[in-house]
Amino acid sequence: MKKILVVNPKGGCGKTTITTNLASYYALWEVPVALIDLDPQQSSLEWLNQRGKHLGPIHGIDGSRGKLSVPNEVQRVVMDAPARTTTAQLRKLFENADEVLIPVLPSPIDIRAAGRFIGELLLDKTLRKSRVGLVANRARENTLIYSNLEAFLNKLKIPMVAHLRDTQNYIRAADSGQGIFEMAPYLVDKDMDTWKPLIKWIENDQKL
Ligand SMILES: Nc1ncnc2c1ncn2[C@@H]1O[C@H](COP(=O)(O)OP(=O)(O)OP(=O)(O)O)[C@@H](O)[C@H]1O
Ligand SMILES: [Mg+2]
Repeated sequence: MKKILVVNPKGGCGKTTITTNLASYYALWEVPVALIDLDPQQSSLEWLNQRGKHLGPIHGIDGSRGKLSVPNEVQRVVMDAPARTTTAQLRKLFENADEVLIPVLPSPIDIRAAGRFIGELLLDKTLRKSRVGLVANRARENTLIYSNLEAFLNKLKIPMVAHLRDTQNYIRAADSGQGIFEMAPYLVDKDMDTWKPLIKWIENDQKL
């Protein structure tokens, strides 16, 4: 079983979007998957409630009160963290995660906040053991804005694992309980390409 935590204390950077799309990717490939919604707002579970019965199943768990256990048959667990997380919460979550994804928006404020968050992670012995990767979310063609952050990450040997486009496809998918992988391919083929390096990083280059 592999557990992936999607976390960033900054609100609205794409944690729920990445969690739900990743869960639906595994569901589409018939990998038994659980989605743990750690956020009391429960946006991921609301998305799951919209999900059509014809789509691949995703086991939804309300983790907002600390429940992190999943059924035995589950092979991938995707966890959606809330915006505000204490260090104690983060330690517990990081201990329960194999991979940690940090989505970052292309704004100077978000980039600086992500830099600070990563700095804090590295100062904490328990937290810095995890395998961490960043995801540039809502990236436009010009991704120069990330270059300072990427230089900083390079020094720390933390990879920027993917650049996801800013597109209505994610909004349409969020409304319908789907992931972009489950939408008409002609609409989403560019986006599916942007997810390839992300999946590859999570799966350590192994075939599913
Ligand atoms: N790549 C994208 N393209 C277009 N819209 C996006 C993209 N990523 C996220 N969004 C939209 O941005 C909004 C915030 O995204 P999301 O809810 O995933 O962030 P979050 O980090 O989970 O927020 P919170 O901290 O409040 O839990 C949502 O309306 C979502 O549909
Ligand atoms: Mg969210």
